[in-house]
Amino acid sequence: TEIKQIRVSLLGWYGLNRRDLPWRQPEDDVEKRAYRVWVSEVMLQQTRVQTVIQYFERWMNKWPTIRHLSEASMEEVNEMWAGLGYYRRARYLFEGAKMIVSEGCQFPKTVSSLRKVPGIGEYTAGAIGSIAFKEVVPVVDGNVVRVISRLKAISANPKDSITVKKFWELAAQLVDPFEPGDFNQALMELGATVCTPSSPSCSSCPVSDQCRALSISRHDSSVSVTDY
Ligand code: ADE
Repeated sequence: TEIKQIRVSLLGWYGLNRRDLPWRQPEDDVEKRAYRVWVSEVMLQQTRVQTVIQYFERWMNKWPTIRHLSEASMEEVNEMWAGLGYYRRARYLFEGAKMIVSEGCQFPKTVSSLRKVPGIGEYTAGAIGSIAFKEVVPVVDGNVVRVISRLKAISANPKDSITVKKFWELAAQLVDPFEPGDFNQALMELGATVCTPSSPSCSSCPVSDQCRALSISRHDSSVSVTDY
């Protein structure tokens, strides 16, 4: 089916093109894996990958586990965050770490339990659940909205809350049941590097054959992929 084709093409592309980022290093310890995904995803929420790399490495050198972070002070955490902006994110990481450690150091392992940690919203819960624990859940950020809009030729305002809900549903149908973490990262990465806002590289896109926006633009020269 078309969905299966999209999964296979996207995962194949990701296997060949995934960037070697510090938070993607293999990590056998599940607790540590979840902690690293959590910190990196929170940093990536408002900051570019290139900037996050150095912050992430400094952070992990200082606090390699959630227990180390829980024993820090708010001043140290803010100092480490200096330059990243939106300091509320750092406070949530610190408060969340203290809460998880105080409850016995077991990282919540499902989206519904992750959502109970202050500061962990739908996006972060989906990222940790799928990437660290292989829970089959979607992740929707701005990149994913754009990629799916184009794949399905949806021209709706992505700021509208009903539209956002619809994208979570579409992403849930699409997510690969065996490799949800890689699949979600592939979608985000495709949006960041190929299916970009103003000049998408459709000729190097692994899912161009499944893309309705591209197909429409080929038949109607008054329409562009960037209209979606
Ligand atoms: N943007 C935010 N998180 C990401 C991830 N894990 N992979 C690719 N792009 C991302």
